[in-house]
Amino acid sequence: MAQYSRVSGTVGLITLLNPPVNALSAAVRQGIVDTMDKALSDRKVKSVVICGHNGKFCGGADIREFSSPLTGPPLIPLIQGVESAAKPVVAAIEGVALGGGLELALGCHYRIAHSKARLGLPEVHLGLLPGAGGSQRLPRLIGVPAALDLITTGRHVTGAEALQLGLVDKVTDRNTVDEAVKFALSVADQPPNSRRVSTFPCPRHPDLDALFEGAMQRVRQRARGALAPVACVQAVRAAATLPYAQGMERERELMATLFTSGQARAQQYHFFAQRAVGRWSMPSGARWDTTKPGAVHKAMVIGLGTMGRGISVALVQAGVSVVAMETNEKQLMEAKQAISSMLERGAKRRGVAPALDKIGYSSNMEPAADVDLVIEAVFEDMALKKKVFQQLSALCKPGTFLCSNTSGLDIDQLASETRHPELVVGMHFFAPAHVMKLLEVVYGSRSSPQAVATAMELGKQMGKVSVAVGNCRGFVGNRMLKPYLEQAFFLLEEGTTPEFVDQVLEEFGFAMGVFRMSDLSGLDVGWRVRKADGLLNASEGHSARIRQGCRYSPLGDLLCEQGRFGQKTGRGWYQYDKPGGRVAKPDPWLHGFLEKFRTQHGLVARRIDHQEVLERCLYALMNEGFRILEDGIAAGPEDIDVIYVLGYSWPPHRGGPMFYAGMVGLQKVLERLEHYHQEHPDIPSLKPCNLLRNLVVNGSPPVHKWREFLKKPQSQL
Ligand code: 3HC
Ligand code: NAI
Repeated sequence: MAQYSRVSGTVGLITLLNPPVNALSAAVRQGIVDTMDKALSDRKVKSVVICGHNGKFCGGADIREFSSPLTGPPLIPLIQGVESAAKPVVAAIEGVALGGGLELALGCHYRIAHSKARLGLPEVHLGLLPGAGGSQRLPRLIGVPAALDLITTGRHVTGAEALQLGLVDKVTDRNTVDEAVKFALSVADQPPNSRRVSTFPCPRHPDLDALFEGAMQRVRQRARGALAPVACVQAVRAAATLPYAQGMERERELMATLFTSGQARAQQYHFFAQRAVGRWSMPSGARWDTTKPGAVHKAMVIGLGTMGRGISVALVQAGVSVVAMETNEKQLMEAKQAISSMLERGAKRRGVAPALDKIGYSSNMEPAADVDLVIEAVFEDMALKKKVFQQLSALCKPGTFLCSNTSGLDIDQLASETRHPELVVGMHFFAPAHVMKLLEVVYGSRSSPQAVATAMELGKQMGKVSVAVGNCRGFVGNRMLKPYLEQAFFLLEEGTTPEFVDQVLEEFGFAMGVFRMSDLSGLDVGWRVRKADGLLNASEGHSARIRQGCRYSPLGDLLCEQGRFGQKTGRGWYQYDKPGGRVAKPDPWLHGFLEKFRTQHGLVARRIDHQEVLERCLYALMNEGFRILEDGIAAGPEDIDVIYVLGYSWPPHRGGPMFYAGMVGLQKVLERLEHYHQEHPDIPSLKPCNLLRNLVVNGSPPVHKWREFLKKPQSQL
């Protein structure tokens, strides 16, 4: 709803009231219509201010209403009504003005913003475009290039940047509503005719065609099959080339197409899923809202390789004091330099001073005695990690939380090396750790709720989306990756090429296909893990393509034996112009190697089509997701989907693997898995899991109902 009052004698003050972000629900829209009527019909009122309750202007349309038919007054005529008002209307922007919220402000005649307010049109992240006139008014106000940038990236700008762009008329560091009221008094006698943005001509640009071609190319490259960014460019083009009324018609058509697309549903699901994972619970019944996190003022990071450096930077940027520790002197020196320059770059981007004084370095463990939390990031080697945990347990003060960044080793085993296993949890970051938004927080069988709450809260403080998961090999993300990678290898054996598999997966929307990704992260990583698992040698009398009773592809191992570790060695599944090179080129050597391998093992290459690549890779991955749910390792499908979108470049417009399974149809996924499992009975990961069968038997309920079919989460090894 919206509240109305008259202030300073002649200013009508309208306050949007819908906590927590004053989203434009049907009731709020009705409230605006009613209060505007009041203000305009009150003869004492000379000007109007619109603001939001509790220091937040407006978070945009109410996304929860998108799944049901529209009720209440529609937004477009409402904003038109505000703009055509005969009395000056001023938007008082504090907190946020996003999406429909900013569109409402664009309909006002003046905009006063707090310097720290965040303004933006982030609809593109919800699979939409600014469909309440935003795509037509913004370019008219700030010019086409700046509008294209804001609308296609959905990025927020601060009040201060908004002033530079010409998006707002004035910025203040004081009480924004008071300033807006003063401003409204000062313009009360000025008719707002010349202030209606929809009547502005769109600023001319010397080469519109080149500008839009470039923009379209950029978004297509970034969008990876997403419709919304492309539609955003088309809508802005309409603003630049058509009269306002026709531009609005084009905006309406494009919005209608997007609104009913599966992509918008998927991205809105992702929006709510990111928030739902914060409401975690544990098998014991401990929950996010009943557990108080411990305070973390000072932390220690052990091991300053790829991960430890990024983790240190993320902690410092979150305001935590850090002792960064590394045993290898050369590595310590290099890490020091790398961390300082990452902090400097980050600070420059954010326009603040680098907090170099928040970090100290050590080549021994002693500072552990004085910290609240430790994150271990040494090599992925259980014996080494156990030793580190023993040392920490002896050194740390009582109550220090001990966390491991392991990619998949058993948290319970690490905990059992310590005197207080309840203080041990996994904090699984993703590379680069100061950039990637995902954090898997892994609770072992003895982790205390407070330890989990502390890791979850610390993740949030670092700007991450933290997902609490149970303890099992590879946790959620890497456990699901295993059958996906396996299928890709098997497909190579059966006749396809890395280029074709990657092309199919990239067309689906992954930033990188599985082989390019493997070259980037290094083939040796998986090789070492397989070695530790005793998988590298076939048992006597068995085929080289069977290990531990199941089908196994030795292709990755054979490449590693040749020193082909991927980008870092200049050769992997592709070739690169030099070690460390980034441009992957098909490698005739690899194709010859695959042919030889097939001949050696009596395999006849067959034609493998697009559908088979996609289904075998993705359905095997999804099937493992269902198993993870069945085992209670993830609390719900949202947890898996958030992990995959934020950690594994699953395209957001496809929601995540579990959401996607629902989109494809659970019945179809089940049938195709049955089909492939019949063809390959020696691949257990293709055998449809019971939960999937159970869901299909129960009529394939929508993804938000799956929790009703799940056991309570638990730790399982
Ligand atoms: N509609 C409905 N609910 C919303 C919402 C919205 N626009 N924006 C936020 N919420 C809800 C969240 O789901 C969350 O609910 P929960 O507590 O039940 O989980 C609650 O508000 C608080 O949100 P956050 O946890 O995200 O709070 P933060 O303070 O971290 O962030 C925010 C606030 C920056 C406003 C962030 O919520 C956000 O980015 N919201 C979405 C903004 C947006 O995309 N607006 C465009 C909507 S589409 C539109 O306007 C179409 C138009 O062009 C026609
Ligand atoms: P890395 O090899 O780059 O760095 C490990 C560092 O630990 C080295 O600098 C080494 O000198 C140091 N180290 C070894 N023993 C030590 C000890 N006793 N005390 C202090 N330092 C010691 O490894 P990376 O890639 O950073 O991985 C670290 C951990 O993070 C591993 O457990 C890995 O599985 C995990 N991880 C790695 C990811 C990646 O993409 N690289 C992603 C997520 C997790």
